[in-house]
Amino acid sequence: MNSFDYCNPVRIVFGEGEIARLSDLIPKGSKIMITSGGGSIFKNGIWDQVKSALAGYDIVEFKGIEPNPQYSTLMKAVDLAKKEKIDFLLAVGGGSVLDGTKFISVAAKYQGEDPWDIVEKGAKVNEAIPLGSVITLPATGSEMNCLAVVSRKEQEKKLPFGNPLIFPKFSIIDPAVTFSLPERQVSNGIVDTFVHVMEQYMTHPVNTPLQDRQAEGLILALMEEAAKLKADPNDYQVRANIFWMATWALNGWLNVGNVQCWATHMIGHELTAQTGTDHGRTLALVLPALWNHKRKEKGDKLVQFGQRVFGITGSDRDSIVDQTIAATKAFFASVGIVPSRKEYGITDEICRKVAKYIGDRGKLGDLKNIGEKEVYEILQLCD
Ligand code: NZQ
Ligand code: ZN
Repeated sequence: MNSFDYCNPVRIVFGEGEIARLSDLIPKGSKIMITSGGGSIFKNGIWDQVKSALAGYDIVEFKGIEPNPQYSTLMKAVDLAKKEKIDFLLAVGGGSVLDGTKFISVAAKYQGEDPWDIVEKGAKVNEAIPLGSVITLPATGSEMNCLAVVSRKEQEKKLPFGNPLIFPKFSIIDPAVTFSLPERQVSNGIVDTFVHVMEQYMTHPVNTPLQDRQAEGLILALMEEAAKLKADPNDYQVRANIFWMATWALNGWLNVGNVQCWATHMIGHELTAQTGTDHGRTLALVLPALWNHKRKEKGDKLVQFGQRVFGITGSDRDSIVDQTIAATKAFFASVGIVPSRKEYGITDEICRKVAKYIGDRGKLGDLKNIGEKEVYEILQLCD
């Protein structure tokens, strides 16, 4: 196991009706900017709960943060936050609204010329407007981490950044808010959760038996609950379990002392930037192809995963790896995602572009051996 230094300061308030606790969590007298997305919260009753919980606070609203939040939209919110002298940000929505709000929190206090530098160049930020969240979609884990992904359409970019300043002060997770989610988003979230675990697990081994078992346990539980959700989408308990798994998959605990491979995500982000394909769907497309390409380096873990999680037997390693990849695709299909390069509009020209963009930024993977050539090869192996 590698050395590590880990702290997760996010307060999690979990359960049905907990949105009513907002006024216990936001300092009295704060001027709050509430950020939201395309309007779902105004149709499903979440907004009404937030508004009544925050009666008496001075509130400014910023609506319209789109999926894969765009820099141009977020900069409008930054201007508003500065003009209104906001001292607390409350994100009410999915990962996109929350990620966008994380960017707003640091961009509004940034002293340099261009806040995009925070994302693209890792420019130093010393201050942020404190933020909290009412997370409405189980997928990204953004509610309990200090990461955000921001897109800039005009430059064909979708890039992640991280900073301890953007840890939410709290996140309210009310599983009941997920009943209004379209099926498509539920599937996306389950795949995103699966792949987050895998990016921190499917690497070369570095002797992390506890973290391995935690990751395998999370995936086993996720597969069980996903099957139950299919059988009864109205089961609150199942929705609660799936939400907590999504949070856990990317709250940092799984990767302490470990090595990580975020190549599937980085390739997926570029595919979204080029084609607009949902985040979860790009991951379902790339992950099996990447495992196939890196079957040697990831072989020990692929075999361990196949044996422990899918119960695959036999002694032929190549065959176990093939079966592990097939079982993973079958799980994605069971939640309704059968990815298709053609259907997503991923042409050969886009594959070359994506490979070049990634190659120009350096090498990906736990062994830093995935560059332009390998990304292109992986994309050729996609279905
Ligand atoms: O915009 P509204 O109207 O709110 O509708 C949203 C949106 O259309 C809708 N939705 C959310 N909660 C709902 C709901 N509809 C009905 N009922 C609810 N309770 O769902 C749609 C998708 O929302 P979005 O926030 O885009 O989805 P998600 O949570 O999957 O976030 C995706 C973004 O997060 C980034 C992705 O790259 C992508 O930009 N990620 C962030 C990470 C992080 N911060 O740690 C890690 C992830 O790997 C990921 O990259
Ligand atoms: Zn993800």
